Amino acid sequence: MLSASSTFPRRKKLVAGNWKMHGTRASVVALARAIRDGVAAVDTHAAADIVVIPASIHIPIVSDILAGSPLALGAQNFYPGDAGAFTGEVSLAMLKEFGCTHILVGHSERRQLLAESLALIAEKCWAVVNAGLTPILCVGETQAEREQGDTEKVIATQLCSVAKAVSTGTFRLYRHVVIAYEPVWAIGTGLTATPEQAQAVHAFIRNLVAHEEPEMEEQAASLRILYGGSVKASNAAALFAMPDIDGALVGGASLEAQEFLAIWRQAL
Ligand code: 13P
Repeated sequence: MLSASSTFPRRKKLVAGNWKMHGTRASVVALARAIRDGVAAVDTHAAADIVVIPASIHIPIVSDILAGSPLALGAQNFYPGDAGAFTGEVSLAMLKEFGCTHILVGHSERRQLLAESLALIAEKCWAVVNAGLTPILCVGETQAEREQGDTEKVIATQLCSVAKAVSTGTFRLYRHVVIAYEPVWAIGTGLTATPEQAQAVHAFIRNLVAHEEPEMEEQAASLRILYGGSVKASNAAALFAMPDIDGALVGGASLEAQEFLAIWRQAL
């Protein structure tokens, strides 16, 4: 078993706010400004990373608001092609031009509602790595899968399908990726995994990575694994106290600046 308190450097926590398909032009401006100003007011902001991930159409306005701020910008989706006849899609190059550094891949809402396959998710994740950006690769089981005792099997499939999509890809993938464990049953439901339930899956993921190939222990020890699913200011501290939980991917609570900032402050 890989020890969380190993000799490897401490993992810097990361708190990311996935705004999903929410907001008006005015509300997004107010939210981005309030989070930016809240981050600026904390002098230890370098102790934990913070990212906001608006809907694509709001990225340019949020990008302007965040100029010069340590608050990073992410995107929820893109199409893995350079440019061309892909009606309705946005490329990584376009997102990069507006300062996006973190890209969500494999969110359960896209797996389920948009029918994104394991193969497409792998292709997208590698496109992000190859573009020099950070994929936040989301994995997680449904309620039925948990009840059947398939949680680990489902997560292993979701991770390995990405790592094995490229030969000798494992080492490179885990050097760049951030994993977000988001149990589907905890997303937007108010049901949070207990810190112990989340920790068990995070430890499973870290061990899986450590033993996927020889000499992966160091990669596994420095891999950031976020928890997502009804994270709030009131439950974040207990989650962050777990040895393998390195931050949070926050949905609903990231739409309220003070609540989101309170979650991030608990990661400092
Ligand atoms: P909630 O925090 O609203 O449960 O959403 C979690 C999520 O899906 C973040 O990507």
